[in-house]
Amino acid sequence: MIDQLKEHIVAVEGFTSSKAEEIEAFRIKYLGKKGLLNHFFAEFKNVPPDQKKEFGQTINLLKHSATEKVSTLKEALEERKGEKTQYGDLTRPGEPLELGARHPISIVKNQIIEIFSRIGFNVSEGPEIEDDWHNFTALNLPEYHPARDMQDTFFIQTDPDVLLRTHTSSVQVRYMETHKPPIRTISPGRVYRNEAISARSHCFFHQVEGLYIDTDVSFADLKQTLQFFTTELFGKSEIRLRPSYFPFTEPSAEVDVYWGLETETDYKMTKGTGWLEIMGCGMVDPNVLENCGIDSNKYSGFAFGMGIDRIALLLHQISDIRLLSENDIRFLEQFRSSF
Ligand code: DAH
Repeated sequence: MIDQLKEHIVAVEGFTSSKAEEIEAFRIKYLGKKGLLNHFFAEFKNVPPDQKKEFGQTINLLKHSATEKVSTLKEALEERKGEKTQYGDLTRPGEPLELGARHPISIVKNQIIEIFSRIGFNVSEGPEIEDDWHNFTALNLPEYHPARDMQDTFFIQTDPDVLLRTHTSSVQVRYMETHKPPIRTISPGRVYRNEAISARSHCFFHQVEGLYIDTDVSFADLKQTLQFFTTELFGKSEIRLRPSYFPFTEPSAEVDVYWGLETETDYKMTKGTGWLEIMGCGMVDPNVLENCGIDSNKYSGFAFGMGIDRIALLLHQISDIRLLSENDIRFLEQFRSSF
């Protein structure tokens, strides 16, 4: 029996656990009411007298070891609990990181910026609340000019001088007023027009304005720049320039890109022609250069302006422009992208 006790002492000493249930089971096994120690104590009376002393000493040793073991393991457990409340459970797997999605307008805007940055254009910005000079007058649209009606304007309160910009062309003016040629800049931003909201048009939308001013700039430079741009953005190089009119450019043109007619959205967006009008452009009118303090005898340049929303609808096959401003997470989540 003494040998049995000694085996138990070895087992007790070798025991370890960091789980509360296992430690408790261990305690019950040795120290519980019906545990081994009580069992051995009860056997004491059957031990031959000459062995009683050794048996007594050994059983006390076992009791001591088991009690010590339980208390050290429990202490260690408590300590770890303390760590957990301080740091949380360090052994848990990491939380999966939810990545957000960029808005399709931002994706397309960034693509446009990236393409033009490759040919030396920087990015400039201007205010959304503009004055009459930057939005109209400096752009060769003096008061009472009929072309002001091309864009239905939101005025701020009753002051006719303060308005929500109707186009990002206002940034051209601001940039030329503060920078000397050579100028190569694009200006993305939000613009506002008092228009009925439908699947194809909204009262606010986004544009990118482009401006290139230097000596000896020609219409051929404009065309080549746009050709490069449409090839890079759409992967389509077939463009056409239709003569048009803008007060701030002379000559002026509208640019169409041949998109094709593969899907229903293509059909709707191109009104069944396959051609998509993507921007207005032209050679900056000398009056505009002079209004902004640039010598029109020395410098010339081109400008263009395009709507980002329509391009985003087309590239991502979205059939209704209103989806872009509804903030519906189910819609936005579909644009996970690295751009
Ligand atoms: N500002 C014009 C619009 O909003 C677009 C535009 C046309 C901008 C011709 C230009 C340009 O810079 O040269 O409709």
